[in-house]
Amino acid sequence: MSASSKTIVLTVDPASPDPAAIRRAAEVLRGGGLVAFPTETVYGLGASALDAAAVGKIFAAKGRPSSDPLIVHIAAIEQLDDVADQVPALARELAAAFWPGPLTLVLRRRPAIPANVSAWRDTVAVRMPAHPVALALAAAAGVPIAAPSANLFTRPSPTLAADVLEDLDGRIDVLLDGGATPIGLESTVLDLTQAPPALLRPGGVPAEALRRHIPSLRYEPSYVEHDEAQASPGMLLKHYSPRADLVLFAGSAERALARMQQVARQALAAGRSVGVMAPDQEAARFESLGVAVAPLGPRDDLAQIARRIFAGMRELDRRGVDLILVRGLAREGLGLAIWDRLVRAAEGRVIDADENVER
Ligand code: TXA
Ligand code: MG
Repeated sequence: MSASSKTIVLTVDPASPDPAAIRRAAEVLRGGGLVAFPTETVYGLGASALDAAAVGKIFAAKGRPSSDPLIVHIAAIEQLDDVADQVPALARELAAAFWPGPLTLVLRRRPAIPANVSAWRDTVAVRMPAHPVALALAAAAGVPIAAPSANLFTRPSPTLAADVLEDLDGRIDVLLDGGATPIGLESTVLDLTQAPPALLRPGGVPAEALRRHIPSLRYEPSYVEHDEAQASPGMLLKHYSPRADLVLFAGSAERALARMQQVARQALAAGRSVGVMAPDQEAARFESLGVAVAPLGPRDDLAQIARRIFAGMRELDRRGVDLILVRGLAREGLGLAIWDRLVRAAEGRVIDADENVER
């Protein structure tokens, strides 16, 4: 099977995947091929993490720069020491508390893991995913699986098998279709090789939960432009973007909503087609304007909103809008990861509706 042949789609039950389908996909991985599979966060694009040539195919299929390192997925906590060296006690404590689950730990890389997995760094990112399909695949393959999100470089992460096909059909060997991914945005990335530990990417495990284990946790969000020197990988501002221009609105809810309506009307008057992503309670305000609305779910249900963020961007892209307007919510719990993804998708276009307002 080569990556230029058609992608084989195997539909599996997300709770108890058919062992025959898992075996077939595991064979492809062991043979140096590419398999996309669901995790509890987003779909991953996997290759054997022990096979440098197979890992190289991931970067080619995604169009991803080889300077951006990959996450290695394991099937059991015991495999941690096959991937990482000098594993500190804190890593074991966090693994016991959060694995399987959406927490990625950056540790010292073992020489058995080829350097291109980590973009030639001496560290490695590792996690044990909490999805029966991902776990069964990694167990059947008998090797750790290197996997970034299964989207083309800079596109929104895929939360459905259809999203993977939209970006990668014909570029990968097998796609395991296990339905919608339950969390909908990526894992939290925590660097334990720095002291104090640094939160590199907010994600499925909230920062507040990590702080209970690491009171000194550092988080310095940095959103750099595309070609600036990167202090650490994965910090590109242009990331997770829809094709449409996305504008993010900050500030108090009432003012932000009023500004969004104003910007929507101006854009419509200028002949642009406009989409809005908003919680259900706020979506109604836009329906009379003639914009495409992607409702995100109830305003206080952050889990559902997280699940809908990338899906909403892709949905509005498919509806052909030129401009997407979205309001940022509270940056707490999952809200911090939602905010991070929206800032990156907006590529810096953030309007604070409270600016220049008398208070
Ligand atoms: O939820 C997830 O993490 C998904 C699923 C498939 O597991 N994967 C994912 O992979 O989001 P990717 O490649 O899209 O994002 C990996 C992030 C990037 O920001 C990358 O820079 C960072 O992890 N990363 C990987 N290895 C690293 C390392 N050695 N040091 C620092 N950051 C690293
Ligand atoms: Mg990604």
